[in-house]
Amino acid sequence: MPSVLVTGANRGLGLAFVESYAADGWRVHACCRHPEKCRPLQQLGPDVLTHRLDVTDGLQVEALARSLGEEPLDLLINNAGLGGGTEALEELDFDRWQRVLAVNTLAPARLAGAFRPALLASEKRTIANISSQLGSLGDNESGGHYAYRSSKAALNMVTRNLAVDLKPAGGIAVALHPGWVRTDMGGPQASISPQESVAALRRILDGLTLEQSGRFYSWRGHELPW
Ligand SMILES: NC(=O)c1ccc[n+]([C@@H]2O[C@H](COP(=O)([O-])OP(=O)(O)OC[C@H]3O[C@@H](n4cnc5c(N)ncnc54)[C@H](OP(=O)(O)O)[C@@H]3O)[C@@H](O)[C@H]2O)c1
Repeated sequence: MPSVLVTGANRGLGLAFVESYAADGWRVHACCRHPEKCRPLQQLGPDVLTHRLDVTDGLQVEALARSLGEEPLDLLINNAGLGGGTEALEELDFDRWQRVLAVNTLAPARLAGAFRPALLASEKRTIANISSQLGSLGDNESGGHYAYRSSKAALNMVTRNLAVDLKPAGGIAVALHPGWVRTDMGGPQASISPQESVAALRRILDGLTLEQSGRFYSWRGHELPW
């Protein structure tokens, strides 16, 4: 049975990932800050294991990696994310920006390091960093979103580095843009549901090869400019 670890698993895209992999019989490690408050997670059956995890808390990340022990981990989905607001240049909230970087950029790197041995002991050896088209330098013609854009652009660089680091051991790392999705972050006007996004992202993930490692994919399956 393949296994997946999902951060930010209590709502939005994270919960949809958990539900989708659970439905296909995967062993799922569903991580969130308050698992006891998330009823949908508790109703998913014995192969969905919930873990308390604030991704910015290094001690919690280490403890979780230790508690999973020698168990191989096929897929790490760094999904937890924080929006930064629209932010005009004169109104930048630098404290918020630091929190956004901690969740969107530093935490995925921290988790990748902590779970590297478990990932490399598995069959699929894959890290999926949930990025955003807003993190694309080449695609940025509209500005704004300083904190969020910079956090996802930096996450994309983390992804490239991971691809380089993991390649000798056959590990894969990709950055994925999930589309504009109807979640708390995407809002009710967004164009697709979390289930549609996850189904599309899973089609990409299910067919990934080592040659595709280090790339930035849109949910529609095409590559995005860095
Ligand atoms: N929705 C979109 O249109 C869209 C577009 C592009 C990219 N994305 C990306 O997709 C990913 C999922 O977003 P979403 O749309 O599902 O957003 P969401 O509904 O706002 O969910 C965000 C998730 O991240 C978790 N989170 C935030 N800070 C955390 C922390 N310190 N530790 C652990 N978990 C934390 C939240 O947990 P709490 O409930 O505890 O706060 C929640 O589970 C994010 O990386 C986002 O940047 C989304």
